[in-house]
Amino acid sequence: MTRTVYVNGEYLPENEAKVSIFDRAFLMADGVYEVTSVLDGKLIDFDGHSKRLERSLNELDMPKPEAFDELLDIHRELVKINEIQDGMVYLQVTRGAPDDRDFVFPDPETCKPTVVLFTQNKPGLADSPVAKTGIKVISIEDVRWGRRDIKTVQLLYPSMGKMMAKKAGADDAWLVEDGFVTEGTSNNAYYIKGNKIVTRALSKDILHGITRAAVLRFAREAQMEVEERNFTIEEAQDADEAFITSASTFVMPVVEIDGKPVGDGTPGTRAARLREIYLDESRKAAI
Ligand code: PDD
Repeated sequence: MTRTVYVNGEYLPENEAKVSIFDRAFLMADGVYEVTSVLDGKLIDFDGHSKRLERSLNELDMPKPEAFDELLDIHRELVKINEIQDGMVYLQVTRGAPDDRDFVFPDPETCKPTVVLFTQNKPGLADSPVAKTGIKVISIEDVRWGRRDIKTVQLLYPSMGKMMAKKAGADDAWLVEDGFVTEGTSNNAYYIKGNKIVTRALSKDILHGITRAAVLRFAREAQMEVEERNFTIEEAQDADEAFITSASTFVMPVVEIDGKPVGDGTPGTRAARLREIYLDESRKAAI
């Protein structure tokens, strides 16, 4: 089925949608994005994604697109037109397309942001069989730029990280800086030891995951202890359980790190429980 996508105020078949070759995101990765998951035809954590988008735009002095207040409607319309039950809505806002390539930001009065949204259909997204077996990760050096809290479209290194993982027979990579894990290539990283969840504290070093915020809240409500601090790969390897979170994977158990099994090498009960709680609560709050 040809998807209907949204580009700058228009709903178009995907093969008719166009963006200029001078678009700042194409030439300079000068764009930000959000991925919102859809379960049962409803948006998960839309408000959190919308707030983070606003923050990303602010941090980069990027003008807020005129369509900002319509974004919820546009998400819903695309979910409806494309008959998405389970999947994702990808949203990208760029600094727009000036007349020529130039490092200097274009005048926001004349150069309006580019806004693109499209859906990704993923039937059974929440019942992924991978959640039952868990994933294997490798560790790689974190060589990304210093503002990882801004959700920019500079995804070359995360993409290379996933390829390095694939080549090593693993599913994903955890990024390590100065001996400490920052996050996964496209997710936040955690381990569990006893009743305690350990994950890196929020700073410019990591993306402030929307799923992270919800999962830590649910964990605390379930009387688990949460410690937000730096941790090493060795600590995570010696833990009882490990997991990642993101809008597209929810809570996903990690069963192996750099070839070493975590716990008994199968998904742990606590991560499985957190996944269940997250999915239940998110479905209830979905809009
Ligand atoms: N990635 N850290 C990084 C580097 C990410 O790219 C993501 C999200 C997360 C998790 O954030 P959230 O819980 O808000 O999805 C953490 C999205 C899913 C992606 O790039 O497809």
